[in-house]
Amino acid sequence: MQKSGMTIENVKEVYSGFEGRLWELIMGEQIHIGGYASSKALGDIAGWKAGDEVVDLCSALGAGMHFLARTYGVKAYGVDATPHMVDESKKRLSEAGFGNCEAKLGDVTAIPYPDGRFDGVWGEDAWCYVEDKAKLISEAARVLRPGGKIAFTDWLVGPEGMDEASAQRICSVMKFPDMLCLKGYTSLLEKNGFRVLEASDHTPDFADHIQNYLGQLAGQRHFDAMQILGWNYDVFSFLGAEFGFMLSKARAGNFGRGRFVAVKERS
Ligand SMILES: C[S@@+](CC[C@H](N)C(=O)[O-])C[C@H]1O[C@@H](n2cnc3c(N)ncnc32)[C@H](O)[C@@H]1O
Repeated sequence: MQKSGMTIENVKEVYSGFEGRLWELIMGEQIHIGGYASSKALGDIAGWKAGDEVVDLCSALGAGMHFLARTYGVKAYGVDATPHMVDESKKRLSEAGFGNCEAKLGDVTAIPYPDGRFDGVWGEDAWCYVEDKAKLISEAARVLRPGGKIAFTDWLVGPEGMDEASAQRICSVMKFPDMLCLKGYTSLLEKNGFRVLEASDHTPDFADHIQNYLGQLAGQRHFDAMQILGWNYDVFSFLGAEFGFMLSKARAGNFGRGRFVAVKERS
């Protein structure tokens, strides 16, 4: 697909303002599809073990670092480009007793860590926001030691493909610069010296979750959502319609989500 024109500045605005708060309302502190169960499935495939050093790229509110440290006993690090998210993650991690996790402000296309620094790279439903995904994967490879693993999920063009107009519409609402498909990430991983252990499609489950979020906005969480939106029903109706569109595309297999685990074999 062509680039949508969305940039890191658009994304920072989302995660510094009402849209970020809305995402947290319907998804929780883990701002990704499937919450804890999704993280646990991904982490178990990666096989993290106590003492591993793992960096969460696009660490948002710090839930990924918290999850990794609590579940596997790893030493967790995070990089995020939005100052509000980095500050908030430090505060929340410290309150949860995981103040030893290190959150840094930075762009994941220029990761502020040296070569070979980590045993693992982690990402959950965030790399769709990154303008230069090729640079992101090459940076991930750079900061991993040989034999280290990369494990991530992301929002994708689904197995049935997507027409350009629909892709542009979704990217403009979601503030994605573009979206890859399963093969797009697989080929970037292979070009950067990874052996792909898993590249799996999770589109049906993705659609169920989008439906759940729509239900929350219209039902149980309606009041809270309207408070976040300043009782602006025009914005609410717009978001409802766009989520409805995304749901139809997800049900048709055009818009989806994938899970990837790969091992770095060479530099
Ligand atoms: C959906 S949230 C990530 C959710 C998180 N993985 C979780 O599971 O809780 C997206 C985050 O990506 C960050 N982000 C987007 N583009 C970035 C970039 N190029 N470099 C660093 N952070 C970025 C945003 O600031 C935001 O906090």
